[in-house]
Amino acid sequence: MASESPVVRALECNENVYDITWQTADEGPDITKGERHRTFFFDLPGDVPTLIDTCFQNRVEYLIEGIEQIGVEPERLIITHRHLDHIGAFEEIVDQYSLETWVPEDDNIAEIDTYGIDIQTEPDHLYSDGEQIGRFEAVHVPGHSPGNSVLVDEDASIAVCADTVSGADRRGLPKGYLIHPPQATHTEMPAQAAVDAEANLENLLGYEFEVALVNHGSSVFENASEKLERYVNFESNFTSGEGASIHSNDRNTIQADDLYSRIDRE
Ligand SMILES: [Fe+2]
Repeated sequence: MASESPVVRALECNENVYDITWQTADEGPDITKGERHRTFFFDLPGDVPTLIDTCFQNRVEYLIEGIEQIGVEPERLIITHRHLDHIGAFEEIVDQYSLETWVPEDDNIAEIDTYGIDIQTEPDHLYSDGEQIGRFEAVHVPGHSPGNSVLVDEDASIAVCADTVSGADRRGLPKGYLIHPPQATHTEMPAQAAVDAEANLENLLGYEFEVALVNHGSSVFENASEKLERYVNFESNFTSGEGASIHSNDRNTIQADDLYSRIDRE
């Protein structure tokens, strides 16, 4: 089965930020069969062209084709977390372009993963929470992986969330919202990691961004940080008093119940 070429789109909210998405052919190891892949590329004023994440090692040709469609050579590579669909083609991309490379400190582990795939990374820089990388501030949100990080460009009002959260449509809900981070797939992470991944979303609440870019499901292009705040702080947003049940005092539920009972009467 033939592979499909990548689709490169400049974002409507910012024509200098690109989404490179492609669907791979039904070939290769199980973990890459028929997967949709996505990588983000930033070419914003005042900073060097920056690629955020790579892709599976055996899919690098599609990523390179996508970058060629954009027509700008990346000069920096920032990895959000050490999962194969993000860091897998690290070496291949470094060989292809002249790049300054950044990997989260807590994810720069030389290990052979569950699938027996050994990805070695020798980045120029290890980064941690609060680090400024060009226009981006790194926010450490561990859970999905130990070093998992979000890259926030507050001037552009964009947060590259990668797998820290997913688009709601990934789970069959309407797009335009963010949902619980995906389970830490592709690794042998303990169940607690998924709990931590949600709890640590709080680390993002000090930042304002209109747009949240995600690798799975649809990105959110309106009021993203506000929606995330409501998601994370759902108790304080929906309870009417201290110690009150979040169910019995859910204002929206009460309003809906009231509405339905009036409709029933009419
Ligand atoms: Fe991931």
